[in-house]
Amino acid sequence: MLLGRVKSLDAILLTAEKRSLHRSLGAFQLTMLGIGAVIGTGIFVLTAEAAQKAGPGMLVSFVIAGIVCAVAALCYAELASMVPVAGSAYTYTYAVMGEMLAWIVGWALVLEYALSAGAVSVGWSGYFVGLLTNFAGIHIPAALTSGPSGGGIINLPAMIIALLVTGLLVLGTTESARVNAVLVTIKVSALAVFIALTVPAMNSKNFMPFAPLGFSGISAAAASIFFAYIGFDAVSTAAEETKNPQRNMPIGLLGSLGICTIFYVLVAAGLIGSVGAQPMLDASGAGLAPGSSALTGACNGIANDAVVCSKEALAWTLRSIGWPQIGNLIGLAAGIALPSVILMMIYGQTRIFFVMSRDGLLPERLSKIHPRFKTPHVITMITGVFVSFFAAIFPVGALADISNAGTLFAFAMVSVAVMVLRRTDANRVRPFRAPFINIVAPLSILGCLYLFFNLSGYTLTLFVVWAALGLIVYFSYGRRKSHVGRGLREVHYVDDDVTSPVVQPRGL
Ligand code: ALA
Repeated sequence: MLLGRVKSLDAILLTAEKRSLHRSLGAFQLTMLGIGAVIGTGIFVLTAEAAQKAGPGMLVSFVIAGIVCAVAALCYAELASMVPVAGSAYTYTYAVMGEMLAWIVGWALVLEYALSAGAVSVGWSGYFVGLLTNFAGIHIPAALTSGPSGGGIINLPAMIIALLVTGLLVLGTTESARVNAVLVTIKVSALAVFIALTVPAMNSKNFMPFAPLGFSGISAAAASIFFAYIGFDAVSTAAEETKNPQRNMPIGLLGSLGICTIFYVLVAAGLIGSVGAQPMLDASGAGLAPGSSALTGACNGIANDAVVCSKEALAWTLRSIGWPQIGNLIGLAAGIALPSVILMMIYGQTRIFFVMSRDGLLPERLSKIHPRFKTPHVITMITGVFVSFFAAIFPVGALADISNAGTLFAFAMVSVAVMVLRRTDANRVRPFRAPFINIVAPLSILGCLYLFFNLSGYTLTLFVVWAALGLIVYFSYGRRKSHVGRGLREVHYVDDDVTSPVVQPRGL
């Protein structure tokens, strides 16, 4: 039963054939697409949390997470180029391992997209609040800038930005190639300026002790900072529009991941070397949990003395080393660029729900298209309300960690699927073949499991509860209503009717 109800790959591909997009993207545009989706709250905000978990050893954490993403990316790219339709990991799993696992993957992707949209909204809020305070001298009451666990009541700016972005998606906002290029330039310039100003201020003493919480601290930070790399799957989903995908896909994927990893490691090194990155410890010498009230308490009163207490780590660092105005400009860059990451994530979420409801696993009314805006407005609004709720209540690190759990699970399933398909459907055309699949795919599975099990026990428990809830929904609804289960074989072309905000870097 576990592996039953496989959806025929040919039926899935019929949809894709109908769409047959023009192959116009080259390696450069793909790399820009990847960088645009990847750089966000992870590096701008979660660097402080990584420092709290690993100290200066977070440098190693960034590299570990980057390597796991690189091998997962190769697996993703092979399936994306073979099955270039909406739904990504959910669709691939449906075709290879059947409906129930596909459902669990789709359900896990809700965590990836909706919760990461929430996390980026909270990250944006930290920079927005910092900017208002330092630039304009406006103070928003602390009760309105974080949820209960951070000592406040509600994170109002995070909630508002999530709702605003949802509104734009309902109206069918598309982010053009030009806007993406501008935002990538802003983000990369901000990081480059950060590196240029912090590297000369580096002091080797700040790297000692390098791993105050041991290798387990480094692993825990790697599991959290994995968040900084999420989004590269945007590159693999553009496989259908890529010229010579065999060559350009790996360049786009590994190129964007490689560039981000280099920037991340340099930013982390600059931050550690210039202001230090030692974690706050409790009386027994253990690290205080990021987002916990104990850490908030320990930070109270000394918030201006430790980067691990900052909600806007990069801006804080520059202000601390005597560049307050440039620190504010970095804040401005984050404020301008992060909403586009929220947009991509909420969009990704609506797309997954859309495809699942199209398959009958969720109510079909959810995928109703707005007559005027041509967007799946019902599902977009439902998603937006949930995202803004999460953003209003939970701290950024908790949201990012849960999002990581869902993403790692989906990536591991994709890596299994790619190996299974090599055996069961060896002759199907693969526009991109991952190299050394017998090494790359197992490495990806092991890497995802390693990061997954280094997330906190609390995160893993929430993941299990979420998966169990998903199975209840599946057995009480989806299993009965499923189109595959009911023998309906129709192919939908609704994808064509929906306005897509996915960046089309043509014409750059
Ligand atoms: N990688 C994206 C970020 O860090 C999700 O914001």
